[in-house]
Amino acid sequence: MKVHRTYKAALKSSTLIALAMGITACSEKADTSKEAKSAGHFSAEQVSEALYTVLKSDRKVYASKIVNRLAKDEQVIAAHEEWLENKALLLPAQMFREGAEEVDSADKPFEFSYSLQSLWPLNYENAKKQTPAVVEGLKAVSIESSPHYGKKWSGEEEIAGQKYFVGIYPDRAVAPACWTCHNEHENTKDEYPVFKKNDVMGGIVIRIPFSD
Ligand code: HEC
Repeated sequence: MKVHRTYKAALKSSTLIALAMGITACSEKADTSKEAKSAGHFSAEQVSEALYTVLKSDRKVYASKIVNRLAKDEQVIAAHEEWLENKALLLPAQMFREGAEEVDSADKPFEFSYSLQSLWPLNYENAKKQTPAVVEGLKAVSIESSPHYGKKWSGEEEIAGQKYFVGIYPDRAVAPACWTCHNEHENTKDEYPVFKKNDVMGGIVIRIPFSD
């Protein structure tokens, strides 16, 4: 299925939610369903916004209702980077990445992808996905002197002949655990910022293919 800049292939929002949750088995084929066709046309940017809404909601629920509740309030299980060895919960960023990897290998109607990125990654593997457009967007949303600081950023890029819409949504230090864990982490390099409350620590990067 082709996705157009002004998204000729219509997707119902329920299909999108199912996609974002990785539930592909029960989702109808978006390009053949009559119902989906009558549901309207969405731009690549709107698809990105819809995915972002689901991703940020899931990230919030996992951080607050699972990690914070069980590891901090009730102290019944820890959250640990080496979660398998320690019989612990995954860190929120690991949970997010595992989901993204599932989506990468899932059967889907078009090849969208997402990741959690930062100009100062603790996981150096994350940075390998940073194309010039992603670096430009991350600088715009997370360098404090940028006029775009803290706002969503969008751009376009072409990879192997395919055009992509790129949406970058700031990821902020909303809880003390964010900046204490990051600032003290052994993977920080010399230029690592000292993060504090509400700083933009990185961004959710969403890539949606389109054709003109
Ligand atoms: C207990 C430690 C810990 C806490 C708490 C924590 N992080 Fe992280 N964060 C990590 C680690 C480790 C990674 C790398 C995970 C991976 O991809 O393997 C990471 C990854 C990230 C990334 C992706 C770029 C990178 O560094 O690789 C962002 C952005 C991020 N965290 C922001 C946050 C925010 C915002 C919070 C609070 C809501 C937070 N983190 C809480 C340890 C932590």
